[in-house]
Formats: sequence, C-alpha cells, structure tokens
Amino acid sequence: MSNNLANETQLSRKEIARKVGHKCLVSRRNFLISSGIATTTVMVTMNAGTALAEQVPATITTFPRKFVVKLSDLKLDEPFDFVYPDDGAHADSMIVKMGVKAGGGLGPDEDIVAFNYACTHQGGSLVGSYKKDTKSLGACPLHLSTYDLTRHGILISGQAYQSLPQVLLELDGDDIYATGIFGLIFGRENNLAG
Ligand code: FES
Repeated sequence: MSNNLANETQLSRKEIARKVGHKCLVSRRNFLISSGIATTTVMVTMNAGTALAEQVPATITTFPRKFVVKLSDLKLDEPFDFVYPDDGAHADSMIVKMGVKAGGGLGPDEDIVAFNYACTHQGGSLVGSYKKDTKSLGACPLHLSTYDLTRHGILISGQAYQSLPQVLLELDGDDIYATGIFGLIFGRENNLAG
C-alpha cells in the first residue's frame, strides 16, 4: 500500500481504542511489512470472532531491521531485553518465547513476541514484570496496568487505555530481527523522535 494511501486512511491507536475499545487483533498475514523506514497501513480486525467484527486501517511504522537475538538462544518464558528502535527515551524492550501461539508470533510455534517496556499510561517501567502463568507484562509499579502479550499487548487491567507497543519481528535463519513497531512508544510524537 502506498504511503499516500496510508496517510489518507491511517487511524491512530488512540482513535481505534476509542472506537472499539481494546479488542484489537491483527492477523499474522497483516504483519508482513516491507523493509525500510515507512509508515504502512494494515487492516486490523476489531472485535474478532464476534458479530461486531470489522476491518479498520491501522498504522505501523517500520525501520531498518536490527538484530535482536538468535532463535536458538531463547529459552521458554525467559525474556531477553534489548533496545529498539534507537538508544533514546523509553526504548527498552523485551522479546520472549511464551510456549503458546500469540498474535504476531514468530517462529515455528508462532509463540515469540516482542514489546516495548514503557507503560502507555504514564511511562512506568515494566522491566522484570513478565508473568509466565498469564503471558503478560505488569502490573505496572505506578498504577497497576497489565498487558496481554498473546493478543498484541491489549490492556488486561489498570489505568492505561492504549495497548503496549509491539515490536515487529522477522526471522532470517536462526537470527531474529526487529523491523518496526505497532503502536506509539510512550512519550514520543513518533517512534524515532527519542
Ligand atoms: S504508568 Fe503504568 S499504570 Fe500508570
């Protein structure tokens, strides 16, 4: 899809959340993003599996890909921390193999996902808060927001009203690369602003 069309049709995550709440699911197919820096519009299925299911456009920002970790080095339910997309504020991120299929999941079991660590409410750090029993991040130490990593980081409970930004991943042999971000990092006007 061209950038012009993307600009014409893009909805912010905030607008999407306001429209349909937090029942946001993106198909794995829609995560196939072209390489390079671009703003791309994908169709997001809202209220999937219900009578209210509908497709709406959503914006994904892609960047030059960055090596994260080797697939063979990931251990079940042990997050690996990295920074993305740069060394600026709120770039702390994590990747984890969860053992259950997840939205946007990478690998043969579609169970590897990556997320930014900054709570979307007021930027509280979620470092070290992964829960293997619920496959979630949180509770945030500031106001207890908790996010579901199997469903694109949607809010489970707490004060936030936007999903956690999900880092888009690509597998090249045994190497896992970050290629973009679905959602806006807390405190940034765009994901590259730092
Ligand atoms: S900053 Fe995380 S819930 Fe408020």
